[in-house]
Amino acid sequence: MYTAVLEHHRLRIETALPQYLPVAEGASAVTAEAMAYACEAGGKRIRPVLVMEFARLCGGDAEKALPFACALEMIHSYSLVHDDLPCMDNSPLRRGRPSTHAAYGETIALLAGDGLLNRAFEVCVSPKNRNGLSAESALNATAVLADAAGQDGMIGGQTIDLQSEGKLIESDVLEELHRKKTGALLIAACKMGAILADADEARVAAAEAYGAHLGLAFQIVDDLLDATATAEQLGKPTGADEENKKSTYVTLYGLDGARQMAESETDAALEALSAFGEAANELRELTGALLNRPS
Ligand code: IPE
Ligand code: IPE
Ligand code: MG
Ligand code: MG
Ligand code: MG
Repeated sequence: MYTAVLEHHRLRIETALPQYLPVAEGASAVTAEAMAYACEAGGKRIRPVLVMEFARLCGGDAEKALPFACALEMIHSYSLVHDDLPCMDNSPLRRGRPSTHAAYGETIALLAGDGLLNRAFEVCVSPKNRNGLSAESALNATAVLADAAGQDGMIGGQTIDLQSEGKLIESDVLEELHRKKTGALLIAACKMGAILADADEARVAAAEAYGAHLGLAFQIVDDLLDATATAEQLGKPTGADEENKKSTYVTLYGLDGARQMAESETDAALEALSAFGEAANELRELTGALLNRPS
């Protein structure tokens, strides 16, 4: 899925992410182990790759954005740990192996999720991760992350998702659900990269527009895959949305309707990249690949 520059970002993330996590030691080691388990390889790492790539596209140093990229992936991983809990989507499988609560029990999974959320902000605000970035850029990027993870973003979206089970919801509520639960962290990824590179307002806005359209396309494809792929392919159960009576783009618009909407959001995302010229060619390729992704 990734070509040269993007694959390089991904490899840096795979190496760095475990190093930003707490050491598993002492009487509470099990929670640190569960945090590491939830962050281990197997995920696509889209969000942190976007942080690094937008930093690069805006003339910054991708390497300096690495701690922030890893922090965002920690928050994403925490959201998956909690999303899989019995009180939420009740899913036993994630990234091709037992989900965190299936491996460690619900109590430790809950604490590991909390721990990842907290650790993400420790990493963002630690002066030793600043690497010559200005305190102001670091603070602004951290504020974007906090907002996207919270009530106006992912948490708000998960609330709507869970409260919409078994109900027929209006299209604008469904769009808000997707925009918040998945769009918010993808927008934050793009925007944080731009902010860390001290990009001008126009570029920050282009990054944000790209993230918004990609985010919507990304969750619509996730809905489609849940309805059409196999569990082996996805590394998580399929048919889970139907089983949980979720409101999705597939339930509201059907497979063809949802596919068309994912395509038009992808086109709009590509349009937003025009602000970045040829330097964004690898990202263009990735954007297309995500529409047709196998998992
Ligand atoms: C899964 O996210 C949850 C959604 C927001 C759709 P990803 O599809 O990015 O999951 P990983 O990180 O690759 O496992
Ligand atoms: C989850 O959406 C989005 C999050 C904020 C975690 P889903 O519930 O559709 O994600 P999957 O399909 O379990 O990965
Ligand atoms: Mg869910
Ligand atoms: Mg789920
Ligand atoms: Mg899903």
